[in-house]
Amino acid sequence: MGTRIIGTGSCLPGTVVTNDDLAKIMDTSDEWISTRTGIRERHLAKEETTAGMSAEAAGRAMENAGVTAQDIDLIIVGTVTADNVTPACACEVQALIGADHAVAFDINAACSGFMFALHIAHAWLQTGVYRTALIIGAETLSKIMDWSDRSTCVLFGDGAGAAVVRADERGGLLAFDQGTDGVRGRVLSCPNRSNNNPLVRTSKELQYVHMDGQEVYKFAVTQVPASLQKTVEAAGLNVGDIDYFALHQANIRILQAVAKRLKVSEEKFPVSLDHCGNISAASVPILLDEMNRQGLLKPGMKVALAGFGGGLTWASAVLEW
Ligand code: UT7
Repeated sequence: MGTRIIGTGSCLPGTVVTNDDLAKIMDTSDEWISTRTGIRERHLAKEETTAGMSAEAAGRAMENAGVTAQDIDLIIVGTVTADNVTPACACEVQALIGADHAVAFDINAACSGFMFALHIAHAWLQTGVYRTALIIGAETLSKIMDWSDRSTCVLFGDGAGAAVVRADERGGLLAFDQGTDGVRGRVLSCPNRSNNNPLVRTSKELQYVHMDGQEVYKFAVTQVPASLQKTVEAAGLNVGDIDYFALHQANIRILQAVAKRLKVSEEKFPVSLDHCGNISAASVPILLDEMNRQGLLKPGMKVALAGFGGGLTWASAVLEW
């Protein structure tokens, strides 16, 4: 039994913030941000919430898939910025869309969150326990950024992407790989939790995202092509057989470096980071939805997906559309 993506959807907040807008409030420039990263603008949440954007993206994915909320057995949201510690974002999505009999929970695998959710859903669909799952990557990263640190806050954006996946005898997901390197995980961190325990004397001050960009960059340009190569081979294919590589959108230079290492044309690497920035777990499903709605994805095409980042975590998958 395989797992097939049968519908996609996405939702971005209404407010667009350009690099020039950021240059008005901090010491940065459009020139630095666009040449170092490829990012030109990002959407930032004002009234929008992680759960609200997730539900919107989910609704569009269900419509695209031709299923209703009553068909959904399982909802998994990959996020590091759920609106609450509890209830989970997935539980709020369940209530918002009316998926009455679905089981719902969140996972925290940072920028690999959607990919890990896809693999969890796949494992459960294989067993026959569930038939149809809604997997979502969603973030409001703007609320955990250090807006006085220009080396991180200019990189990230807010939004949500969703996919409906269904057990399918004809295949779909051909192979996947995933991994974690917790020893090096602190190169991208966000404590951001106050400790309310009266027995523990801790600072109430929240600490925001900190990233050693160059270490994460080195990790990405070695681990991602290695994982993709392994997954493509496990699917019985060569990298040349892959029609598109839909990767986590952190930096255009990472996409170019991965293309170079795999000896594949950069044209096979669609880009959304120019108008979205890095949206962690939401990057891959938003990109996939854009590709789907632009009509790039045709039945039978081979598509490779990859997420990588905080944790450190990485995951890749090869699927037949
Ligand atoms: O989603 C999780 C995965 N994340 C990633 O994959 C991120 C991977 N890392 C990267 O994409 C890159 O390392 C960055 C885009 C984060 C940084 O690019 P870089 O080429 O490694 O720049 P850098 O950190 O070495 O900084 C170079 C210079 C520094 O100035 P000096 O020390 O050379 O004078 C920074 O202070 O650029 C300066 N700088 C800025 N200048 C203007 C850093 N941020 C900015 C900024 N505007 N926003």
